Amino acid sequence: MEKVFVSNSAEETMELGKKLALSASNGSVFCFTGDLGAGKTTLVRGIARGLNIKSVVQSPTFNIMKIYFDGIKPLIHIDAYRLADVNTDIGLDEYIGYETGLTVIEWPDFIKELIPETAITVNIINLGENQRKITIISDDQALLGGLQ
Ligand SMILES: Nc1ncnc2c1ncn2[C@@H]1O[C@H](COP(=O)(O)OP(=O)(O)OP(=O)(O)O)[C@@H](O)[C@H]1O
Ligand SMILES: [Mg+2]
Repeated sequence: MEKVFVSNSAEETMELGKKLALSASNGSVFCFTGDLGAGKTTLVRGIARGLNIKSVVQSPTFNIMKIYFDGIKPLIHIDAYRLADVNTDIGLDEYIGYETGLTVIEWPDFIKELIPETAITVNIINLGENQRKITIISDDQALLGGLQ
């Protein structure tokens, strides 16, 4: 099943992220796809907001992974961009799907072998300066239902 949204600002995208955080069940894995600058990290900031995380979520491009424990559940944020063409066996599988938290992976195609089958795909397409098409694909009915 899928659901499509059109966002007209970074703020709207963050609000959608907040709803995602509140509808997702523990252990959920999100794969965020879309070009550079599409808005993947912006959507992660919305998820952090939904989890009441006060730390500033930065693009973890240079650290591969950052875990936030200061919210209502842990947020594991992975950016696999820099894992292109390198050995990805660095233990990320221990964190992906961390059962009491939410995992969000930007550039999941670079760690395909580590992505669980149940992962929720979120694709962001840039439609113009501030407009984005956001498609959420998941078998989790409760998740999609919670996004009304
Ligand atoms: N509707 C929108 N939704 C999300 N971001 C938007 C929107 N309109 C404008 N923006 C801007 O687009 C940029 C998105 O950057 P962001 O870092 O979230 O992208 P990204 O997909 O994570 O890129 P990267 O692949 O480099 O990690 C931000 O500067 C944000 O303010
Ligand atoms: Mg990013």
